[in-house]
Amino acid sequence: MREPLLEIRDVSKVFPLGGLPWRRQQIEALSRVSLTLQRGESLGIVGESGSGKSTLCRIVLGLARPTTGQVLFNGGDIHAMAPADLRRQRRQMQAIFQDTAASFNPRQSVRSVLLAPLEVHQIGTRESRLQQVVEVLHHVGLDNSMLDRHPHGLSGGQRQRVAIARAILLRPSLVVADEPTSALDVSVQARILNLLREIRQELQLTYLFVSHNLGVIRYVCDSVAVMYLGQVVEHGPIAQVFANPQHPYTRALVNAIPLTDPARRGRGVPLLGEVSSGTHMPSGCRFHTRCSVRMELCSAEAPALYALSNEHRAACFWHTPRFANGRPDWIEAGQVAHDGGSAAGLSAVQEK
Ligand SMILES: Nc1ncnc2c1ncn2[C@@H]1O[C@H](COP(=O)(O)OP(=O)(O)OP(=O)(O)O)[C@@H](O)[C@H]1O
Ligand code: SF4
Ligand SMILES: [Mg+2]
Repeated sequence: MREPLLEIRDVSKVFPLGGLPWRRQQIEALSRVSLTLQRGESLGIVGESGSGKSTLCRIVLGLARPTTGQVLFNGGDIHAMAPADLRRQRRQMQAIFQDTAASFNPRQSVRSVLLAPLEVHQIGTRESRLQQVVEVLHHVGLDNSMLDRHPHGLSGGQRQRVAIARAILLRPSLVVADEPTSALDVSVQARILNLLREIRQELQLTYLFVSHNLGVIRYVCDSVAVMYLGQVVEHGPIAQVFANPQHPYTRALVNAIPLTDPARRGRGVPLLGEVSSGTHMPSGCRFHTRCSVRMELCSAEAPALYALSNEHRAACFWHTPRFANGRPDWIEAGQVAHDGGSAAGLSAVQEK
């Protein structure tokens, strides 16, 4: 099998918070996240606010260090590389963020914004650089009249097109898009999503694509990882996860999408309570405070991510043989393989 483009291996991130030394709090923004992206794949990350999506993006882009774990890009650990190697690899990974206004220097024109990366990497001559800038603008649906405009004077959609142009200018292999359309009106959002789909195809890009909107993920991605309080609770191909969500949280999210298929009506799993904060992490399964199908064990032990098929994983005790009796009818028995998660979860599988 070919080497994956990106491998996130058992990544955790703890942020220390202020306070007196003997009462210092910390937030575990990510807990043992492992995900792999093959070249050309588009992986969606979905989860509510504070679930760790942006922290994961920043760690993948080398903008923040993991507390533990590794990020392998083209086979090399980006957090253990020499600075020169990291710079070379960074050219291969580009980012598009939600708040593009903040990512542009207000004094720069679109021309200077787009010339800068070519100049930094000393690509082409002065004339050929300008030619490349014009070409990339056309590629994202903008014309030459944009060159002397300032990003802050553009509409949200136009500004996001400039951000996309900047991201694809250096022909990266990976694009990390963190909520790239969340700040846009719905009609503009649809056009930008179409553009992102088109350029992925044309330039054979690999996407790590974050959204809190499962509908957006379904439109742009091949696979999805669902995050809850810093952990991946379900991961699999879009078609499988949407047709057959196997974690109670995913099931609630999928059912919250407006129904086009009446057959799906009434199969919901309600979410209980409020989402917990990162500083007061629930014990056991982090989802147990909101889970309508929880068991006694769930507040004491943490489930692993159990493999349901080669490509589909879910972190819920109901997938283990131990709980075959009384299993909700929509839960399928897993293959009892172990992939990350706690040893407590593993013992739940082996005990039978
Ligand atoms: N620099 C930081 N210092 C302290 N805590 C942080 C820092 N960055 C993120 N966090 C905390 O880590 C957790 C995950 O935050 P993150 O921004 O990754 O979530 P998110 O899923 O991107 O949320 P949103 O959907 O709101 O963008 C949150 O509890 C957040 O408060
Ligand atoms: S392990 Fe328990 S609390 Fe967690 S999702 Fe499954 S049933 Fe719910
Ligand atoms: Mg975020």
